[in-house]
Amino acid sequence: MKNNPTGRRFSRRDFLRSSAALGAVAWGLPTLVPSSVFGQNAPSKRITLGIIGCGNQSTVDIPEFLKNDDCQIVTVCDVNRAGRGYKSADQFLGREPVRDMVNKFYAKKTGQDSYKGCDMCADFREVLARKDVDAVVIITPDHWHAIMTIMAAEAGKDIYCQKPLGLTVRDGQEMIKAVRKHNRILQCGSQWRSTKHIREACELVRNGRLGKLKKIESYVAANNATGPGPGWKPDPVPEGFDYDLWLGPAPQAPYHKDRCFYRFRFVRDYSGGQTTNFGHHANGVVRWGLGDDLFPTEFEDAGSEWPEKGDLFTTATKVAFRARFPDGVELFCHTDKKSFGVRFEGTEGWLELGSKKFETGPASIKGSAIGASDQRLYVSPNHYRNFLDAVKARKDGVEPVETGHRTSMLCHLGNIAMLLKRKLKFDPQTEKIIGDDEAAALLEVPLRAPWSYTTKA
Ligand SMILES: NC(=O)c1ccc[n+]([C@@H]2O[C@H](COP(=O)([O-])OP(=O)(O)OC[C@H]3O[C@@H](n4cnc5c(N)ncnc54)[C@H](O)[C@@H]3O)[C@@H](O)[C@H]2O)c1
Repeated sequence: MKNNPTGRRFSRRDFLRSSAALGAVAWGLPTLVPSSVFGQNAPSKRITLGIIGCGNQSTVDIPEFLKNDDCQIVTVCDVNRAGRGYKSADQFLGREPVRDMVNKFYAKKTGQDSYKGCDMCADFREVLARKDVDAVVIITPDHWHAIMTIMAAEAGKDIYCQKPLGLTVRDGQEMIKAVRKHNRILQCGSQWRSTKHIREACELVRNGRLGKLKKIESYVAANNATGPGPGWKPDPVPEGFDYDLWLGPAPQAPYHKDRCFYRFRFVRDYSGGQTTNFGHHANGVVRWGLGDDLFPTEFEDAGSEWPEKGDLFTTATKVAFRARFPDGVELFCHTDKKSFGVRFEGTEGWLELGSKKFETGPASIKGSAIGASDQRLYVSPNHYRNFLDAVKARKDGVEPVETGHRTSMLCHLGNIAMLLKRKLKFDPQTEKIIGDDEAAALLEVPLRAPWSYTTKA
């Protein structure tokens, strides 16, 4: 297989065997589905999707894709067969329950109780090898986003990739190269860029309704889990879970139940914590309001707190960093009970945003009309629909790979400044930290062999 960097555990023979077995039930099945089920969308015109990662967020992303008649989920993939204990203890997820959920949806929609058109696999390279998959939806932990995106782009798939775009700045840079080299569409999964009140608020900021901007705050939620603390002991790997393929490019490490499902976001080997989790959302809105071409040149810690040494959890327990834009505007990103949110403050007023909130002071700012000569922002009523439209039009959607990368990069740099507890100078043109080799080294992490950014055999 051309794009298998490892040759490990997944030989061509394995693939042929599995595809022959699957072919009878799955690959042929879409033709059994009456075209009326998918509206005007003939099977040949549907965008076929493979879901990679059947955990917590898949329960949000999959129903959103299922709403669209012009796409069809033909396969789901997860290294976990099935199990409880994701965001909440009773959440039962993994490839098997998620495949069943998709088939149940189509069974109801087609009126065919025996519908089995969506199959499942444990190894994402099987999804990428399938000729009948047009696009993949990557909903795995962050340490997989870059390699899966690169391999998907090489395999000719379009990509909906959850935020953040990678674990490191280098991850994002490599994702851009692969997506552009192979002329793929990538939508980064931060849905706030497809949220009406957020766009309208950002248009007010862009068009100077707050006067000259003075400062900005972005809020991230507090951690919703605590680690097992120093002295933690490994757990047995659950049955039906391919732990080595979960770790992938991350360092080898003993299994613990708090390492993987959902709580991976609190371990630095797999995620940047709430800084990149909620931070990607909030700071993406900050960048939209200011203008995506602007980027901070200074970052510094503002009182972040971190877990006890020896804990399994290694991401900030309290996020607090400042970033300065070249024109002097300061962004303060911090943990707050407001969870996701942003506040812009200018010489003429302020504007505050949350998932539902849109308030201004004075109140008249909110009602200020955007005129014909004002700057307008990209209108996307739904992030998933926008991705499907972008795939059809072969034109970037509302959050292409460069936009997602620059937002993730802002969060990664905040993390580096907080970790080192010192001021960093950054060149947004070259995407390099200036005059601090220790900090610059944190712009990337080594990838565990055989995984690498160069996936061509
Ligand atoms: N846009 C949003 O609002 C939003 C919300 C939550 C999570 N997310 C993002 O979604 C991603 C997943 O988060 P989650 O909360 O669903 O995590 P999760 O742990 O609940 O689910 C991730 C799933 O990926 C699977 N996985 C890991 N490695 C894999 C591999 N090599 N191949 C196939 N499957 C693999 C895991 O087994 C797990 O089932 C993260 O990047 C997160 O930032 C986005």
